[in-house]
Amino acid sequence: MRVLLTGANGYIGRRLKRVLKTVPEIQLRLMVRNAATLGAEAQGLEVVEASTFDPASLRRALAGVDVAYYLIHALASGPDFRQKDHLSAENFLQAAIECGVKRIIYLGGLGDKTNASEHLISRIETGEVLSSRPDQIQTLWFRAGVIIGSGSASFEIIRNLVQKLPVLITPKWVSTPAQPIGVGDVVRYLSEAATLPHGESEVIDIGTEAMSYGEIMLRAAKVMGLKRRLIAVPVLTPNLSSYWLTLFTPVPFTVAHSLIEGLSSPVLVQNDRAQALFGFSPQPYEAAVAKAIEEIEANQVISRWSDSDGAAWEKHQSADIADAILIDRRRMPLGELSAHQVYRSITSLGGDSGWFDYDWLWELSGAIDKLLGGYGTNRGRRDACDLRLGECLDFWRGGDLQPDVRLLLFAQMRLPGRAWLEFVIWEGELIQTAYFYPSGVLGRLYWYALLPAHFFIFRNLIKRIVERAAQMGKV
Ligand SMILES: NC(=O)c1ccc[n+]([C@@H]2O[C@H](COP(=O)([O-])OP(=O)(O)OC[C@H]3O[C@@H](n4cnc5c(N)ncnc54)[C@H](OP(=O)(O)O)[C@@H]3O)[C@@H](O)[C@H]2O)c1
Repeated sequence: MRVLLTGANGYIGRRLKRVLKTVPEIQLRLMVRNAATLGAEAQGLEVVEASTFDPASLRRALAGVDVAYYLIHALASGPDFRQKDHLSAENFLQAAIECGVKRIIYLGGLGDKTNASEHLISRIETGEVLSSRPDQIQTLWFRAGVIIGSGSASFEIIRNLVQKLPVLITPKWVSTPAQPIGVGDVVRYLSEAATLPHGESEVIDIGTEAMSYGEIMLRAAKVMGLKRRLIAVPVLTPNLSSYWLTLFTPVPFTVAHSLIEGLSSPVLVQNDRAQALFGFSPQPYEAAVAKAIEEIEANQVISRWSDSDGAAWEKHQSADIADAILIDRRRMPLGELSAHQVYRSITSLGGDSGWFDYDWLWELSGAIDKLLGGYGTNRGRRDACDLRLGECLDFWRGGDLQPDVRLLLFAQMRLPGRAWLEFVIWEGELIQTAYFYPSGVLGRLYWYALLPAHFFIFRNLIKRIVERAAQMGKV
């Protein structure tokens, strides 16, 4: 059976890929817009670069496929994401029918359109489009609510709020019921769906036991060994709550707002098809929380909500550091150190390790960025040392990675211009360059105002990278 996995570099896709490639009867093909973002994970697997907005590329991806997973959404692409999601699903369905695909498996969100966020409405519309030709193609439409797993946006919010705040001040939606589910179970349902006997199109709701959002937080606190109190305040509006989440958790305003919007209406399983079709039940909520925490503590997070950001990538591709007109370049001899040692030190920047002596200045910039609606620094990084192409690192994202030679980061902070930070290891030297392409006068003013701070920050950064490389020793 040939299986196409779209969204293979996304939160669910990366995890599902690991399971599908171990199923003997499945021949797996991955579909991504940029194959380089898969890095070593694509080894031994067939990869096709395609976009749902390019029907010819879709037909190439779907040729000879029996089962196709649809794990795509356009939320990060801007305010017209709903129209894009609609077109994306229509193109996919059309190409799948033309290519003789027998089954589409789609994961959307739980809940109905009444009081739903625009994101959820778009997820429902996507399911409706994909299921609209049951006479020609079978669609298994899974619907999940809050997904509990290391790196999922919902879990990162729960974890950060619970760990940082002894008293949780919440809006009144805290009593709304929901049925969360562990990411391991989501992946299990999705993977087993590929080999189900052929049948009708279905909507399959998945979730563990029902509980209020308040309970979701308090029970997670208990698993983490923390005692927390909830105070529900009726005056917290969706906007205020979203700012609150933006301040205390890694998610930016848009993601927080979309999640908050969906919290006012119940998110409950509405059918028992999962029980009828699969021979297992989801693990209890507490077990899913414990597993997520275990993965975070062991530095074994497979994927994060912020992994894929095609829109940021396209913006990055459309710009060239050669256009930058303001530059801060520094060099440092490597001495006895190998290129590999220095590269390891560079790729360990940010996240919990921070940015050396001027970490507080980076944090301050992060706080300002958050206030301006950006990502700030508390998005952190997935792994303490391993960095994939396109993956985020505080308010940066990896734009080019050449092991032991070059790391290029492009800035995702709200700036009056475009910024990059480059490290090149060349002929016994580390060359560190900050590039800036200012937008008009404001951009230039910004750069010159920060010159004194940059002097200290960048001088310290290169020196400490080399010092840390020596401390890390040879591996
Ligand atoms: N994560 C959750 O907590 C959760 C909860 C409930 C339901 N779900 C559902 O699960 C599904 C997958 O979600 P996710 O969290 O894994 O998403 P994600 O991490 O944001 O990944 C989205 C994927 O879509 C791809 N994509 C976007 N536009 C594309 C296009 N035009 N052509 C081809 N690929 C495109 C992205 O690739 P690029 O890198 O190229 O942009 C990325 O791989 C969604 O339907 C979502 O509603 C997720």
